[in-house]
Amino acid sequence: MKKIQAIRGMEDVLPDVSRRWAMVEELLRRIVTQYGYREIRFPIVEFTELFTRTIGETADIVAKEMYTFLDRSGDSLTLRPEGTACCVRAGIEHGLFYNQVQRLFYCGPMFRHERPQKGRYRQFYQFGVEAYGIVGPDIDVEIMLLAQRFWRELKIDHQVELQINTLGNAETRACYREHLVQYFHDNYAALDEDSQRRLQSNPLRILDSKNPDLQPLINDAPKILDYLDSSSHDHFTWLCQALDDIKLPYVINARLVRGLDYYCHTVFEWVPVGDGGAQSTICAGGHYDELVANMGGKATPAIGFAMGLERLLALVANTLELPKLRTAYLVLLGDKVISQGILLAEKIRFHGGVNVIVNCGGGSLSTQLKRADKSEADIALILGETELAEEEVVIKYLRDERPQKNIKVTDIENIKIFL
Ligand code: HAM
Repeated sequence: MKKIQAIRGMEDVLPDVSRRWAMVEELLRRIVTQYGYREIRFPIVEFTELFTRTIGETADIVAKEMYTFLDRSGDSLTLRPEGTACCVRAGIEHGLFYNQVQRLFYCGPMFRHERPQKGRYRQFYQFGVEAYGIVGPDIDVEIMLLAQRFWRELKIDHQVELQINTLGNAETRACYREHLVQYFHDNYAALDEDSQRRLQSNPLRILDSKNPDLQPLINDAPKILDYLDSSSHDHFTWLCQALDDIKLPYVINARLVRGLDYYCHTVFEWVPVGDGGAQSTICAGGHYDELVANMGGKATPAIGFAMGLERLLALVANTLELPKLRTAYLVLLGDKVISQGILLAEKIRFHGGVNVIVNCGGGSLSTQLKRADKSEADIALILGETELAEEEVVIKYLRDERPQKNIKVTDIENIKIFL
């Protein structure tokens, strides 16, 4: 029979690796909690319209990458390709944005039908934060500092670089767009097919093109920084000054425009140092001050970012040290000791602060010791009828040459000192 396999681009996380995931997620949760962010959980599936209206019809995510299907009621639903739109939808629906500041975070799988390759999956995990009700740019600094804390604690702060840009407000963008379109029109023949198409639909995205032939043309294109109106200019200048003041390193990347339509003012990405392409961007975000109102909520400034956990985990592969687990494997010799053994294991787990794997399925001493060895436990605790009668267990060290010894069951609460 043909074996059923996982869908391409949707990865299993096996136990050897999942502990690393859990540890990173726990660290991220701990840090954002220190900054006052609280978790929000929203569904994995939403009405398709939520994403077409927020991310934009012409954005690649919507035009090419969504997992969209009709459900049994005939509604068009989509597996969420990102969390920001869902967060805004939930916030409006539950009245979270009325005259309140909200600092929220989420963690979970997102879905995009992209061409799978290293660092790019069809199901991938994002950890995201979103702050509502603060105009900035102080919140911009907070959010960048927060990300910097992640990198510091994960010991990868020298491996990533913060790139920032501004898209200004709506007037700035409209004025800039006009000049940019004019410039690319004047150079229409030099554009590739993709960029010619984008010139109609989303000209700012041409700046994002990775086509090496286009780089000189793009480098000479008008820069949005030269078109900022005074409020957009002030926002960005204040931000840069504050980042200088707190010595948070950044580079201004005038070509950073982001692939989703909802952004304004500050946009930013953390990319691995020396990485030319955007394929490995670890974390990305920006302001989206008009989105809540555009979706029918009360006008609420907003800013956030999301990071790809697969990419982050690849980056911390060499820096993340997992704390050692302290585990005992309980060998049970004979049917008569099984019930007492199960109770003993409970006592050790509860009072001894040590993980206990109980041998299930019987077996000789040597079979059980082999299982103990495979389980990666540090010690085997052996309980036979004699030990049960004497109220003792035998400790056998599995990872070093220390001689085995007997300890009293009453001393089992101090098991840690034997490990
Ligand atoms: P995004 O740039 O589309 O932004 O995605 C954010 C991050 O998710 C990327 O930098 C990358 O690390 C990860 N990512 C995206 N696509 C994939 C993929 N196919 N495979 C693996 N990782 C991927 C957003 O999603 C915005 N919602 C971010 C945001 C939050 N803006 C404001 N608030």
